Amino acid sequence: MKKVIISAALGLMIPLMSIGQSLLGPGVTGSSLTVAGSPHNFSGDTWNAYTPIVVSGSTATGGQGGQICQPCHTPHNSDMTVSDAPLWNHAFTSATYQMYTGFEFGTSTTTGYIGYGVTAPDGTSKLCLSCHDGSIALGAYGQQNLGGPLTGGAMLGTDLRNDHPISMPYDSFVGGGLHTPSYIYNNYSSGGSGTFVTYVSSGKTVGSKLDANGKVQCTSCHGPHSNGKGYQLSMDNRGSALCLACHKK
Ligand code: HEC
Ligand code: HEC
Ligand code: HEC
Ligand code: HEC
Repeated sequence: MKKVIISAALGLMIPLMSIGQSLLGPGVTGSSLTVAGSPHNFSGDTWNAYTPIVVSGSTATGGQGGQICQPCHTPHNSDMTVSDAPLWNHAFTSATYQMYTGFEFGTSTTTGYIGYGVTAPDGTSKLCLSCHDGSIALGAYGQQNLGGPLTGGAMLGTDLRNDHPISMPYDSFVGGGLHTPSYIYNNYSSGGSGTFVTYVSSGKTVGSKLDANGKVQCTSCHGPHSNGKGYQLSMDNRGSALCLACHKK
């Protein structure tokens, strides 16, 4: 159902897009290569009336509202206790999670898990989850705590068993169905909608999708800033090019 809706939207919106932009998700606009054109532009949200000046209870007044970077970053007095977080400003999640554990074929989907050995998310994924697990108000940053937490489909919750695994070292799984970290993956080139999909070399390695510890994180597939490919994706996933970058299928 969702795919049907997306295809319909694609047909309508192609004439509005410039070359280089492609697969659409909600929130993709002409300026989608910037944070301003992405779903991460919160400059118009009522909880984004940031002020370092007067905070009374949970209400903040005065100061400079409508900023784009500030819900996530601050130029000064950032939170140094959070790892992999450049000049981080947003309240940091302390939730506990249920992680994806890997599925053993031929067993029950609820009990037949083999275990990936990952007990908690780490790295930049924790930054994303600080909004996307739904445990913290979106407007909890700097000295304020305004608005409510994320709701709806973009709220992944703390049960991550039904989400693509994250925070596992990629190397541990190479040899089976995965390319090596030095494999140069392909980008989507053309095709689809009745013609076969073709790919073109991206010139980049799988390793460039992994974090400094060689782990898969939310940022292996998404970027926090640009939304040029829709859904904050880091590359066009037509022809499942994103999935095939790592998976040999
Ligand atoms: C919704 C949260 C969010 C917003 C809004 C946001 N960022 Fe980021 N930013 C992140 C996260 C998470 C990272 C770390 C992950 C990464 O590097 O991909 C990051 C990393 C960075 C980095 C270091 C890595 C890099 O990409 O160069 C810079 C610089 C940066 N952001 C600048 C900005 C600026 C400037 C703005 C406003 C125009 C902005 N960000 C808005 C979440 C955000
Ligand atoms: C400051 C809070 C905040 C942070 C931090 C944050 N997000 Fe978001 N994100 C949001 C909100 C709010 C939306 C818009 C949700 C909606 O429209 O329902 C959103 C939208 C998205 C979407 C698009 C959903 C869609 O339907 O198009 C994706 C994907 C996403 N975020 C991934 C990430 C990733 C990955 C990170 C970390 C690199 C991250 N977010 C960090 C608050 C945040
Ligand atoms: C292996 C790749 C991959 C990883 C890792 C990943 N995502 Fe996604 N995510 C996707 C793709 C692809 C989509 C678009 C789904 C679609 O086309 O329907 C998506 C969609 C989303 C959406 C929109 C969901 C909706 O229904 O509106 C959010 C929000 C999101 N991701 C956040 C995250 C966060 C936060 C993390 C880390 C905890 C993460 N993703 C990790 C690939 C990934
Ligand atoms: C950055 C590399 C990377 C990307 C991109 C990626 N994956 Fe994965 N994926 C992994 C790793 C590593 C695992 C864990 C090892 C395994 O189970 O094969 C995994 C696990 C999975 C599993 C679970 C396998 C099991 O046995 O339980 C599925 C299904 C899957 N990925 C599908 C996808 C899809 C669909 C996409 C595209 C939306 C995608 N992956 C994108 C690296 C990636």
